[in-house]
Amino acid sequence: MRKHELGFGGPLFYDLLFILCFLVISIKCQDAAVMGVLKSTINAPDSLEWIGEDVCKWRHVVCDSSKRVKAIQIGNQNLRGTLPKELVMLTALTRFECQDNNLTGAFPYLAKSLQRLIIHDNNFNLFPTDFFKGMSSLQEVRIDNVPFSQWNIPNSLKDCVALQTFSAQSTGLAGTIPNFFGKDGPFAGLVLLALSDNFLEGGLPASFAGSSIENLLVNGQNSNSKLNGTLAVLSKMVSLKQIWANGNSFTGPIPDLAHHDQLYDVNLRDNQLTGVVPPSLVALPSLKSVSLTNNLLQGSPPMFKNGVGVDNNMDRGRNQYCTNVVGQSCSPLVNVLLSIVQPFGYPLNFAQSWQGNDPCANRWTGIICSGGNISVINFQNMGLSGTICPCFAGITSLTKLFLANNNLTGTIPEELATLPHLEELDVSNNHIYGKVPSFREGVELKYEGNPDIGKNEQTIPSNVGKANKNNTPMIIGITILVVIILVVGVLILVKFRRKEKYKGKLQNQTTFVVPPRYGDGNVVKINSGGHVEGNISLSLSSAQSVYQGEASNMLIPIQILKEATNNFSEGNILGKGGFGTVYKGELHDGTKIAVKRMQSTGFVDQKGSSEFTSEIAVLTRVRHRNLVALLGFCLDGSERLLVYECMPQGALSRHLINWKEEGLKPLEWKIRLNIALDVARGVEYLHGLAQQIFIHRDLKPSNILLGNDMRAKVSDFGLVRLAPEGKTSFQTRLAGTFGYMAPEYAATGRLTTKVDVYSFGVILMEMITGRKALDDSQPEENIHLVTWFRKMLINKDSFITTIDPTIKVDEETLWSISTVAGLAGHCCAREPHQRPDMSHVVNVLSPLVQVWKPSETNVNEADEIDFDMTLPEALERWKQFEGNSHIIDVTSSSEYLNANNTKSNP
Ligand SMILES: *[C@@H]1O[C@H](CO)[C@@H](O)[C@H](O)[C@H]1NC(C)=O
Ligand SMILES: *[C@@H]1O[C@H](CO)[C@@H](O)[C@H](O)[C@H]1NC(C)=O
Ligand SMILES: *[C@@H]1O[C@H](CO)[C@@H](O)[C@H](O)[C@H]1NC(C)=O
Ligand SMILES: *[C@@H]1O[C@H](CO)[C@@H](O)[C@H](O)[C@H]1NC(C)=O
Ligand SMILES: *[C@@H]1O[C@H](CO)[C@@H](O)[C@H](O)[C@H]1NC(C)=O
Ligand SMILES: *[C@@H]1O[C@H](CO)[C@@H](O)[C@H](O)[C@H]1NC(C)=O
Repeated sequence: MRKHELGFGGPLFYDLLFILCFLVISIKCQDAAVMGVLKSTINAPDSLEWIGEDVCKWRHVVCDSSKRVKAIQIGNQNLRGTLPKELVMLTALTRFECQDNNLTGAFPYLAKSLQRLIIHDNNFNLFPTDFFKGMSSLQEVRIDNVPFSQWNIPNSLKDCVALQTFSAQSTGLAGTIPNFFGKDGPFAGLVLLALSDNFLEGGLPASFAGSSIENLLVNGQNSNSKLNGTLAVLSKMVSLKQIWANGNSFTGPIPDLAHHDQLYDVNLRDNQLTGVVPPSLVALPSLKSVSLTNNLLQGSPPMFKNGVGVDNNMDRGRNQYCTNVVGQSCSPLVNVLLSIVQPFGYPLNFAQSWQGNDPCANRWTGIICSGGNISVINFQNMGLSGTICPCFAGITSLTKLFLANNNLTGTIPEELATLPHLEELDVSNNHIYGKVPSFREGVELKYEGNPDIGKNEQTIPSNVGKANKNNTPMIIGITILVVIILVVGVLILVKFRRKEKYKGKLQNQTTFVVPPRYGDGNVVKINSGGHVEGNISLSLSSAQSVYQGEASNMLIPIQILKEATNNFSEGNILGKGGFGTVYKGELHDGTKIAVKRMQSTGFVDQKGSSEFTSEIAVLTRVRHRNLVALLGFCLDGSERLLVYECMPQGALSRHLINWKEEGLKPLEWKIRLNIALDVARGVEYLHGLAQQIFIHRDLKPSNILLGNDMRAKVSDFGLVRLAPEGKTSFQTRLAGTFGYMAPEYAATGRLTTKVDVYSFGVILMEMITGRKALDDSQPEENIHLVTWFRKMLINKDSFITTIDPTIKVDEETLWSISTVAGLAGHCCAREPHQRPDMSHVVNVLSPLVQVWKPSETNVNEADEIDFDMTLPEALERWKQFEGNSHIIDVTSSSEYLNANNTKSNP
């Protein structure tokens, strides 16, 4: 056996077969070749009975009716060896099973057709982080007990909308549990989520609420901090049948599980749970097994009914029950004290100190006794939050109650005034509101530092209410947008189908690029083949939470960007501006990116930060082939980074104005015209997207980027403003660039779409003349391009002298240039209402471009769409056509082959 002959792990026969397949391009034949490679890398033993040329006759291999390999089921076969990368080429594969073997090496990518992945109990060392990308058919994942080097639950798992089972126990997962498993997430049918014995940390995400999960296994994390926080969210997971949360650092009480009528198995042992075991758990009819050992549970040891398997160590050292006798109640005083700390969430320090059934026998934190009766309760400075329990009134011996310097809310309960021996009550420095009850004379009251005391309601909760109110239009807006986008998505698909029929008609159509969305908060990013994954648990400040749901899957860890840009080396700088520096970079999979690093001033700069937010907000909502696509962003300390698709030819200004210094050729007129139309279309889209109006405010050649095909995209959305609903004109703080700024905007700050039209007119003038908008090298009266151009436009002879001398002017060109010059003048009209709409501009420019339309039209490429593809695949494909500068096909395996097997690719 000659291994790795010709770059493939397999005998020469298969290599030859493989190459032959490329000549013949027979997919069936390709499947056979891949199976041949697999056979050799797993050292298929004779017992596997993989004999003969027809792989469909091999044992443990199933083919579909068209002889494509559909299932490979080689679990428990004593296999050693590796899995070949070529497996991804089995594009009809729905089931891959290799569990219980000793397979090693990196686990390969598999085709998007996959439905079941069962690979547990092997020795693989690496799992591809973007494995799940686009796996919309995947239902079952079992990857337990594999020593993968540490990885995080990837964001791309969200693509697996059909997921029912995700079992990844003891498989090297680190980081936090992502927030997309709940009812608002993509998984409508997720039943089993098993993440035990990993290195996870942080809390159970609040988004678990309402999820369909029945089996939740998160026990035994090996990270230092383990999983922590409270179990409160479990009370909202009423589908649960099984909860294993043991062996973590969970705190707080066992939540109310009264509505969990299928719950049979609860393991919460070995945490730091406090409080009284809720009677609802004890009474749960479906309960079969429960383990609460080794926590700090308080109150009476629960008595579960017969037939429930209880691992509930009654040794008081292992929990803080008031007695050893199951079912025996605590002393009334202990019960009162437990009721008092219940609204505080049963704080850990009380649970640790409050031992036994007599608060006065041991020294209980915060309790001072005299003569066997509680005389003083001192809970000052304990970081308590929650309300003051009326049950304090049950401790009739109380003389002093100190609750100062906490975060208590609510009112002072009336009942406290009934305490017969009370001498002093101190609730100062909390957030208590409402009327102070009338206490006996002689009771010393302290309540300063509660801003709302005496008022009927609290300002803080009402503030929260207001904030919510303000958010409502935004939420509604986003909802509407999502609906619109879905509708547009459907229309586009319909359009695809029509394209078959109306190929001829299609030429003049513009198409919108809108990200497909699967439910709320799930943006599938336009992505030129490369997908970046990382920790999605970066903390966002509240100001930035605007895009937390919307775009959280676009967060990219800084580490990846550092690697991609050689640690932001000088050599990678593409350009610098007031906003910061742009670096070029390359992801490990070869995707070229541009990284905009906002000016970092050590602290978070207000201006840069708001532009950052604005840019993300806009770019996650708008997508168009003539707008630069945002691939992701990164927040890290004071670092603010935006990641775009790479536009290799850089800004239009390089080619138009600075071409000599840059060592470039001047642009031909027809290329300028194409660029003008591209820009016009991008801006038209911004202005007209579904009743929402975006205004760019800073159109200029340095914000227009060119691909290798010299097609243009508008960039820099940092100043973009969304016009308030129903308004086409509104006032803002002035921002933009002199020379491109419309006069009425510069004078009054009134912003309309016509501000962009003006700037676009200036750009047209620059394209015609090759001169800058403000040209200091000119005599005073000619510095301002618009003024000068208007003057020269008056008669034909003077107009001809304005034309950039690098443009070769023949009759046809001259006609074209004069039309554009007229349009430019129109766009730069003094009065905004005299300027045309961008749609008019597009209508003027497109026939001019048609005249020179190169024979190949990129529109037709979309016709190659295969209608048998799934929706996500179709959109993926189609996006690649839209970003026509580089067509990478990831749905079939050709890119993979081109990238990795060039040697054998004839
Ligand atoms: C894997 O190999 C080890 C020894 O290298 C052996 O003990 C173990 O039984 C093997 N496991 C399987 C499932 O074959
Ligand atoms: C993910 O987070 C963990 C800890 O939270 C960290 O150790 C790890 O380096 C992070 N990974 C990346 C890719 O940033
Ligand atoms: C949980 O652990 C993390 C460290 O992983 C820590 O930052 C956080 O404060 C902890 N949360 C709670 C509620 O203890
Ligand atoms: C403790 O309280 C009880 C009833 O409130 C009272 O009878 C008893 O005298 C008190 N003990 C002391 C020492 O004050
Ligand atoms: C009150 O709560 C806020 C946050 O909720 C916290 O920052 C502050 O430290 C708390 N104050 C006290 C006295 O515990
Ligand atoms: C980037 O810097 C880190 C240390 O800060 C270094 O380990 C790494 O090798 C550097 N990478 C590159 C590509 O220079």
